[in-house]
Amino acid sequence: MDKFIIKGGITLKGELGVSGAKNASLALLPATILAPGRSTLKNTPELNDVFTMIKLLRHIGAVVEFKDHVLSIETGSITNQIAPYEHVKKMRASVYVLGPLLTRYGRAKVSLPGGCAWGPRPINLHLEALKKMGANIDLVDGYIVCDTNRLRGENIKFDISSVGATGNILMASVLAKGTTKIQNAATEPEITNLAKFLVKMGAKIEGIGTNILTIDGVDDLIPVEIDTIADRIEAGTLLIAAAITNGSIILNDVDPGLLSAILLKLMSAGCKIKTSENKIELDASELEIKNINVSTSIFPGFPTDMQAQWTAFMSLANGKSLVRDTIYFDRFKHVPELVRLGANISVNDNTALVKGVKELKGAKVMSTDLRASASLLLAGLAARGTTEILRVYHLDRGYQRIEEKLRNLGADIERVVGKEF
Ligand code: EPU
Repeated sequence: MDKFIIKGGITLKGELGVSGAKNASLALLPATILAPGRSTLKNTPELNDVFTMIKLLRHIGAVVEFKDHVLSIETGSITNQIAPYEHVKKMRASVYVLGPLLTRYGRAKVSLPGGCAWGPRPINLHLEALKKMGANIDLVDGYIVCDTNRLRGENIKFDISSVGATGNILMASVLAKGTTKIQNAATEPEITNLAKFLVKMGAKIEGIGTNILTIDGVDDLIPVEIDTIADRIEAGTLLIAAAITNGSIILNDVDPGLLSAILLKLMSAGCKIKTSENKIELDASELEIKNINVSTSIFPGFPTDMQAQWTAFMSLANGKSLVRDTIYFDRFKHVPELVRLGANISVNDNTALVKGVKELKGAKVMSTDLRASASLLLAGLAARGTTEILRVYHLDRGYQRIEEKLRNLGADIERVVGKEF
């Protein structure tokens, strides 16, 4: 397990390109199952979660090549519809193969994902919708075992807006018989990216980008090529890295519209921001961080995947702020570690009360999950002295060579490889 050693307190400055979005890729890869033949996914990020999905696709028989961020996936060769525990336990998004396998082959056996690092993350909405569409579903030895002659279009109304359930049911419905209407569908840009990919394949989908998707099932889809959108969470994390160190940054290859809630909050906190097509410029050289409350919500609201990073940012603000997570009530594993770096934060229910301190001080801290680790990275960049972040494999799941990107901005960050820490 690698660790990072960061010498903090350096002002970060520079220009970077934003990588492709992890959560878009994790939906686009399994969508290729729907169209037998060779699909091409461009701008795919080189991340451990993407490698896990590639392994899963190879396990079921797909032939996958990955070079220079271009993935070529041949799905005509799929022979096996089982997603085993070894893959699913590494990454919950593996459950995305359920809808495509079931709708294309009439059967699927997918390990049920357990809880995750910060609490339960059920998939009841995925299963209830598939049942309504005519799937027979059993739970056998920890596996979801389903079959169907052909799924049929139905009215699906989700009680909660769920990215994963929307993606899964969207993929299932494009080959179903008849019309499916998904109400309270997720409108996250990664779902829009997926829907546009499916339309290019020949799917009939209306309402893309809204919370009502209407899908007319077709008999066949053809393999095509798609560009993966930019990772708005990587972009947001890099913007805070510059802001928290009184630096400045220019981000390229990213549509600012993907990050509007994050940019508004950064401006409220005192950052100067300019945007143009596919570019965001942030200047925090004279920033005194203002205390700004945040409450996470579904897109276009402030994303839960930026909550931990915002908490780190606010730990150096000039007053108190409240950071509330309305998507995942328990997603606060970063707080005790930020406190080890000198932050003053307490958590009550789903809200962190962050009392800004004058400075953070380097310490040894432990990554617990992806975004928690990102918050420790940000705090370590701002802290006086040396911070060691243990278990950076969490960061490798979702940030492509983050230490190289930060070094390009001037950070003093080193990866110590492969020892047990
Ligand atoms: N939920 C249910 N039942 C379900 C599905 C979801 O109760 O069947 C609840 C969840 O417990 C949660 C809410 O609905 O309270 C929203 O969860 P959602 O299904 O939208 O989350 P997800 O699809 O499992 C994706 C991202 C997460 C991100 C969330 C929320 C991927 C691969 N993962 O997860 O990303 O936090 O949406 O935006 O797209 C990350 O990148 O660090 C990450 C965790």
